[in-house]
Order: sequence, then structure tokens, then C-alpha cells
Amino acid sequence: MTDASNNPRHPVARNAIALGVIALLGTALLAWVNSATKPRIAEQERRQLLDQLEQVVPADRFNNAMHEDFILVSDTLAFPGGQQAQVFRARQQGVPAAVAMKFYAIDGYNGRIDLIVGILADGQVSGVRVLQHRETPGLGDGIELRRSDWILSFNGRSLDNTAAEDWTVQRDGGDFDQFTGATITPRAVVRAVHRALEYFEENQEALFSRPSEFAASEEAER
Ligand SMILES: Cc1cc2nc3c(=O)[nH]c(=O)nc-3n(C[C@H](O)[C@H](O)[C@H](O)COP(=O)(O)O)c2cc1C
Repeated sequence: MTDASNNPRHPVARNAIALGVIALLGTALLAWVNSATKPRIAEQERRQLLDQLEQVVPADRFNNAMHEDFILVSDTLAFPGGQQAQVFRARQQGVPAAVAMKFYAIDGYNGRIDLIVGILADGQVSGVRVLQHRETPGLGDGIELRRSDWILSFNGRSLDNTAAEDWTVQRDGGDFDQFTGATITPRAVVRAVHRALEYFEENQEALFSRPSEFAASEEAER
């Protein structure tokens, strides 16, 4: 008796070889598609990041490649839940001008609310945007700019012009509007922005002086 696996003319062996060839071709095709689309995806991500940064730090405030000038920081109070905040640095002729911090509030009604917060070097908020959330449509989603202009109420706020006890919703005696029937969501965002401002004030010098982690992150991507 002949062993089918050793005889290439046997139908079983022929099928096995054909399957092997198809699998190899499939793998090669996938690898090719992956390498062909990788630069385009990276470019899309870069544009999206630039757009986010410029929404919270006006483009005329800086002339460095802000999207490539960032560090990762952790702080259990300002950035709870074991997260690392990404701090992008804006500089004008090399002089610190502003930061944009990407991090999340952990205490939304439905969990995490991803934010980007722009802070000018003088400690004033230049813009806040919600990047992602799972709050209830019609109740908690007023934090999105496309639903309401509530998020713009942070513009120009600072620790100097807004006392610590005012950094909450009006229902708790603070300065910020809540939404009808939804206090939890705006409360979480206001507190998160306040903590980010405090962190910035306490760490401003170190935030601008640490070397960028961009090169290391690019290396890790490869
Ligand atoms: C199905 C459902 C979804 C809700 N979604 C939200 C939400 O996304 N954000 C929010 O702040 N409150 C939401 N609420 C209301 C909260 O439970 C709470 O009543 C409201 O935020 C007022 O909180 P307060 O009593 O602390 O002012 C939701 C309630 C229900 C029943």
C-alpha cells in the first residue's frame, strides 16, 4: 500500500498541496494589503489628531509640530483609573505657549468620557472637546459640541477667575449648567477639567521640559 501523504499524485496529497499554496497566497496578500494601507491609516490618524489639537489650541498660538511634541504622564488624582494622559506641547519660537491634554473622566453616567483640554501658558482654558463617550442620547450627550454649546462654557476659565467650589454644576452650587434630568455627565466633565487645570498649574515647568516621547512611540509602532 502507498502512503497518500508521500505520493504527490494521490488526490489527498494534491488537495493538501493546493490548500497549502492557497493559504500561502492568502497570507502574502494580507501582508501586502497591510503594508499598502498602513501609511494611509497613519496619515488619517495624524490629520485627525491635528484637527483635535487645533480645536482646543488656536493654530496661531504655536509654530512647532505640536502633534509630535508630547509626553505621557500619570497622576492618580488628576487622571484616575490607571490611565496615562497624553500631554501635547505648543510652543511659539520655542517658548511654551499651551498644552493639549488627552485623558478621560472615569465617572460619566455610562463610564469613561474621553476629553481633550487645551490650556494656555497663563493657565486659561483655550478649549475643551469630548472625543468619545457612551452617555445617553438626549440626556447626557449635550457635552458634544454638535448637540449643544455647553462645552464652550469652559473657554477662558482659569483657577484664578473661577474659585475651587465653583468648578461643578449649578445644582451643587457651582458655575456650570447641568442638563435637564442629567447632572451626572456634566458634573464628571467639569471635575475632570478642573483637576487637569490644577495638575497643569502644579507641573507646568516639568510638562514643558521633558523630552518628547514621539520618537519612541514611532519606533514602537514599527
Ligand atoms: C435610562 C437612563 C439613562 C440616563 N442617562 C443619563 C446620562 O447619560 N447622563 C446623566 O447625567 N444622567 C442620566 N440619567 C439620569 C441620572 O440617573 C440622574 O437621575 C441624573 O443625572 C440626575 O442626577 P442628580 O440627582 O445627581 O442631579 C439617566 C437615567 C436613566 C433612567
